[in-house]
Amino acid sequence: MSFLSKHKVLERNASLLLAGSLLVVTIGGIVEIVPLFYLENTIEKVDGMRPYTPLELAGRNIYVREGCYLCHSQMIRPFRDEVERYGHFSLAAESMYDHPFQWGSKRTGPDLARVGGRYSNEWHVQHLENPQSVVPESIMPSYSFLKETRLNFEKPETHLVANRRVGVPYSDEMIENASFDLADQANPEADTDGLMERYPKAVLGDFDGDPDRLSEMDALVAYLQMLGTLVDFSAYEPEKYER
Ligand code: HEC
Repeated sequence: MSFLSKHKVLERNASLLLAGSLLVVTIGGIVEIVPLFYLENTIEKVDGMRPYTPLELAGRNIYVREGCYLCHSQMIRPFRDEVERYGHFSLAAESMYDHPFQWGSKRTGPDLARVGGRYSNEWHVQHLENPQSVVPESIMPSYSFLKETRLNFEKPETHLVANRRVGVPYSDEMIENASFDLADQANPEADTDGLMERYPKAVLGDFDGDPDRLSEMDALVAYLQMLGTLVDFSAYEPEKYER
């Protein structure tokens, strides 16, 4: 019996063929998937990435709650037109502390992965209050209520603990200081040395123009101002991609 005629047995018996196919697919799957479990990390380590400050984390929650991801991506693809418009393409490491990630799949508005530092805090507040007042043709809705809404982020340390459980390296010190760091980041009078040491490059300031109250606007703008600013791309040969 030649090899081909042996194969005939398989092809004429549906159950046998199914079992055989399953076996082949299983072996293929194991070969591809199992090695991933033995790699310590599939994301390349990148200098500068740090967990979000409590205020940024609160702002991120508002970003998710308001569905900003429905109109904005946070993922610059490695294509020349995107890199020229938005800056260095996104690295996997830049969203490794995102649970869930905010890559998005629709760009009604521009990508926001590197919007941090591009505008002033005042610009962001005015834009979120009334987008058409700064970009007349904008179709973005107004989020003026964020300024009137007191930030409800009680026991911020519990949010840090939850993130630590899924792999974000919050230290004990960060967790202990979470409620101070939350308030201090938006309080121009506060002593922020510890905060800056724990969270380098955190943007400080009274974001919403009312220093006495911590609003959802404070949190969201703190989050936006951090986006894409943590990694120093001068160490990653940007001239190769940017012009
Ligand atoms: C209905 C779609 C839509 C939604 C929802 C939306 N945006 Fe926008 N956004 C836009 C459009 C369109 C623009 C471009 C025009 C402009 O600047 O207003 C924009 C621009 C922006 C910009 C300026 C980006 C740049 O590089 O100039 C920021 C920042 C921004 N949006 C943040 C947000 C945040 C934060 C939320 C959620 C609270 C949000 N957007 C929700 C449509 C949307």
